[in-house]
Amino acid sequence: MRAIVLAAGLGTRFRSEKPKVLHEILGKPMLWYVITNVRNGKIDEIALVVGHKAQEVMEAFKDENLKFFIQKNPKGGTADAVLSAKDFFASYDGYVLIINGDSPLVSGETIRNMQQFIYMVKAYEGVKLGGVVLTAHLPDPTGYGRVLKEPGTDRVLRIVEEKDASAEEKRITEVNAGVYIFYAPWLLEALYSIKPSRATGELYLTDVVEYMSKKGYEVRSFMAREPSEVIGVNTRWELAIAENLIKLKLIKFWTDRGVTVHFPETVWIEPDVSLENDVEIFPGAQLKGKTKVGKGSVIGSGSVIVDSTIGRNVRIGEYTVVERSRVEDGAVLGPFARIRDGAHVRSGAHIGNFVEVKKSVIGEDVRAKHLAYIGDATLGKGVNVGAGVVFANYDGKRKHESFVGERAFLGSNSLIVAPVKIGSFSFIAGGSVVNKDVPDYAFVISRPELRIIPEKGKKFLDK
Ligand code: UD1
Ligand code: CA
Repeated sequence: MRAIVLAAGLGTRFRSEKPKVLHEILGKPMLWYVITNVRNGKIDEIALVVGHKAQEVMEAFKDENLKFFIQKNPKGGTADAVLSAKDFFASYDGYVLIINGDSPLVSGETIRNMQQFIYMVKAYEGVKLGGVVLTAHLPDPTGYGRVLKEPGTDRVLRIVEEKDASAEEKRITEVNAGVYIFYAPWLLEALYSIKPSRATGELYLTDVVEYMSKKGYEVRSFMAREPSEVIGVNTRWELAIAENLIKLKLIKFWTDRGVTVHFPETVWIEPDVSLENDVEIFPGAQLKGKTKVGKGSVIGSGSVIVDSTIGRNVRIGEYTVVERSRVEDGAVLGPFARIRDGAHVRSGAHIGNFVEVKKSVIGEDVRAKHLAYIGDATLGKGVNVGAGVVFANYDGKRKHESFVGERAFLGSNSLIVAPVKIGSFSFIAGGSVVNKDVPDYAFVISRPELRIIPEKGKKFLDK
């Protein structure tokens, strides 16, 4: 089967400079979900109809192996949009799925079930099957096309748009999801025969249904598994609702695989994230991009993990940010730590509160528990980084690297001026400025003499 995704419309109700279908749900364009769901529905040949801001939309999906078609008049209506892709199906003797680009909740499973349904009807009923329309009953059907059927059957006679519906038709709660499968040759025939709507001047794809049913090409309705699947995103509020539903489904997917998520409504997990079982996620945490988290790791409240690989049994305390970095098994981060830009924290290391680690290797069992900046450095196993230690990696023009050998002790408030090498088992006294290489086992101290002048303090206080 082939599929056509409609994404040429103006998205007027979004009031946006950005094309509606590029607005994001969990870090991915809305249209990405539609295309992904179609692919999960076992359809690989996909045409995308673009029109409004076509270049931007095509650019965003250029690597998705789609065939692009441009609708010249993005106000032409959904049938005009399908017609602009007619080369995709005009000589195709089979069924074509058509789906609105603003329907990100229709699942791949439902798309597979619709195809199965077509197959069954054709195999066992021997009718001239024009197509299938995906529908659902909504408690509030306002805004959707209403599905008019032959009483007591699933034969669809007509779909009437809200704007054209009579008061009685508006009371129908079965709505058109904007997902159809049509037999291509009859679809083309219908598209050439329908007339623009009197209310809007648009050519409605939904009018294909009435044409077909009058011609004796039966159109059947197929009920979505969950009514929420049919939600179309026309406004930013509907975007928020869709995002919430998609997110909860995704979290449900992970809980089914042994992940604990506390207060899931507050947690953000993007679709490319992958989690092992016994991961535990606390309220307000966000897992983004291609983040992976290993078995038994804990993600504390308010932590944000972006494009990072977290090993097993890692403990990430509250309000910790990890970006594009790698954290090995058993490490302990945060609360309030920041690990970024290619940092690599080896197993068992502790990075505590108000410690920033940038593009550095933190050796096994390193302790850097409070208030430090570690940038462009390589720390050997068991190094101790005292409170207030700063790696001065930037001289105003260039970044430089530092190396610290295993078990070295960097006393509180010492300043490590890169480029520099500090030997293993060396001891840097607190407050030292280290701007020369230090051999193994050395003791290093640089500290202005401390003067204590008795009684003189009074003079300052008396002022
Ligand atoms: C459409 C259906 C309605 C259904 C609803 C489900 C029609 C006439 N109506 O209404 O029955 O209940 O979807 O969500 O189809 N588009 C184009 N070119 C155009 C116009 C639209 O490509 O000229 C695209 C849009 O980008 C969008 C999709 O088609 O992705 C649907 O268009 P939209 O205007 O949102 O249709 P609805 O009014 O929601
Ligand atoms: Ca819509």
